[in-house]
Amino acid sequence: MDGNGRWAKRRGLPRTEGHKAGVDAFERVCECAADLGVPYLTFYAFSTENWRRSPEEVSAIMELFRRQLREGERRQAENEEKRWRIRYIGDLEEGGPVPDDILALLRDMEEKSSFREETVVSIAVNYGGQQEILRAARRLAALVQKGQLAPEDISERDIEDGLYTAGQPMPDLIIRPSGELRLSNFLLWQSAYAELWFSDILWPDFTERDLDRALEDFALRQRRFGDIEA
Ligand code: FPP
Repeated sequence: MDGNGRWAKRRGLPRTEGHKAGVDAFERVCECAADLGVPYLTFYAFSTENWRRSPEEVSAIMELFRRQLREGERRQAENEEKRWRIRYIGDLEEGGPVPDDILALLRDMEEKSSFREETVVSIAVNYGGQQEILRAARRLAALVQKGQLAPEDISERDIEDGLYTAGQPMPDLIIRPSGELRLSNFLLWQSAYAELWFSDILWPDFTERDLDRALEDFALRQRRFGDIEA
């Protein structure tokens, strides 16, 4: 969800206004993707590197998470809940940098939405693709150390089982808005054969039409997964 800061700057607004508009775009895209029957959507909301931002910006983003989660609770209480299941991926251990009250709210949200299977929306918070692979490697190393796994028996599947996305299919399409042409530590293992779609649109401006465009382009791609053309 990149480009929030630039979107705000262009309007002479504080960066936090860009993040607020980013949350609106998030809701819009979830609605549209659920309507289209997209089974899995993953949003990069906060990276392990984003803690380097100013304390003001970090707390404003944390406050947006809080607000979003409380709004989810309110919707739940009033039976206005959304159709999608919410999952959070990233380093969300207690005692880490994500405030405990947010951890409690997001675990609650995951549990309450767990019966919805139509569209699974994963939100990456305190997430880094390299750190995710490192965590999976450490878990396997511990099994090897205990004599429960032989190094030569470690498979791709074992690594995948140790990722936050375990049990989910690999992404087919990765959309990066805001003109940057890189993955920025997002789903590094999982993106091995993903199609990439880049756009200059700043995330808060991203609309249903842009999602349609990305999906139309995706439908024209020839995916060979390392094989030759049939
Ligand atoms: C990247 O844009 C955006 C972020 C680091 C934060 C995104 C967070 C939210 C939209 C709020 C929380 C989300 C949910 C789903 C509740 P940038 O700030 O790097 O923009 P720039 O590159 O233009 O400076």
